[in-house]
Amino acid sequence: MKIDGDVTLQTKLLKITHTANDEAVLNEAAKLLREGHLVAIPTETVYGLAANALDPKASAAIYAAKGRPSDNPLIVHVADVSEIPPLVKHVPDALYRLAEKFWPGPMTVIMEKSDAVPYQTSGGLDTIAIRMPSHPVANELIRRSGVPLAAPSANLSGSPSPTCAQHCVDDLTGRVDAIVDGGACEVGVESTVLSLCTTPPAVLRPGAVTLEMLRETLPDIVLDPGVFHHLSDDRKVMSPGMKYKHYSPKARVVLVRGKREKFRKFVAEQPGEFGILCFTGDEPYFTHPCIIYGTEGDAASQAKHVFDALREVDKEQMKLVYVRVADDEGIGQAVYNRLLRAAGFEEIKL
Ligand code: TXA
Ligand code: MG
Repeated sequence: MKIDGDVTLQTKLLKITHTANDEAVLNEAAKLLREGHLVAIPTETVYGLAANALDPKASAAIYAAKGRPSDNPLIVHVADVSEIPPLVKHVPDALYRLAEKFWPGPMTVIMEKSDAVPYQTSGGLDTIAIRMPSHPVANELIRRSGVPLAAPSANLSGSPSPTCAQHCVDDLTGRVDAIVDGGACEVGVESTVLSLCTTPPAVLRPGAVTLEMLRETLPDIVLDPGVFHHLSDDRKVMSPGMKYKHYSPKARVVLVRGKREKFRKFVAEQPGEFGILCFTGDEPYFTHPCIIYGTEGDAASQAKHVFDALREVDKEQMKLVYVRVADDEGIGQAVYNRLLRAAGFEEIKL
């Protein structure tokens, strides 16, 4: 994809060291954000490319830096529920109940937007996605900048989401003003996105806050069909982000669902050179190069490593990779959703 953002910026690397120096780092990053600049910041899910959500120029700069299609709306990050009423037409009752249970944390809620939110931030939509992150650095930066922060994942559009500062450095050096290094992300996959603008409410993107968890608060919530099925581009999609190819290494990615032994037999029959994305303990069973993306039966560990593993595929210059998929319960749904997109929905069930 052609990316027209300016690649001549001096990108500052600001490191959180848990020392007295962090004060200066946070203030410098907050000042950049307040003045309309772009700063990659850590959150508990993935790194976000942040800018003032109320400044149309700052939001437009995010799209340019990422090479993101302009109809793919941004998530607005707040530090407190009290910041939400000015951003939306009205606050649905359900929002308060959800906030009490799941915020701060990896949940994003779509509501009708107010006139205060520029269309550059909402991707031209009349709705707005809002999230309150739990990462202390993200929280501090929202507070200190004094503005809500629009922040999509801090990767180049289409590539795997960034789960550490080095991923942001690899993708965004020269395109953003600063990258705040707050270490590796705790969750590893992006937040659960749900819409309160539909009846019934719907999960548009699975994440660490699972459908089962949400059902306790919203018993009638449904999973949007786009989560696990390919929707043609001309169909009106609920979440514009779902229609784009995502998280893709340059390699062809093929998902293979099956137990280790069946998977081993399948792989042994495949011709040519390829790599394998698999689980801890799988390596001795294969002669092809393996990249580990977590432990079988532990979807949280897979969530934490899946994007790094997809980036590794390109670093190893693999042309084709078979991915062993096993778990799709709980946060495993989020891992499976991201892998399906990385594979362009190519999956073999053994
Ligand atoms: O965990 C996360 O959510 C991370 C961190 C940085 O907070 N952010 C993130 O943003 O993943 P992004 O832009 O990469 O993904 C946002 C998704 C996209 O699929 C987008 O289409 C959808 O949310 N979205 C945002 N606003 C929407 C809206 N108003 N209606 C429908 N979908 C929306
Ligand atoms: Mg993204």
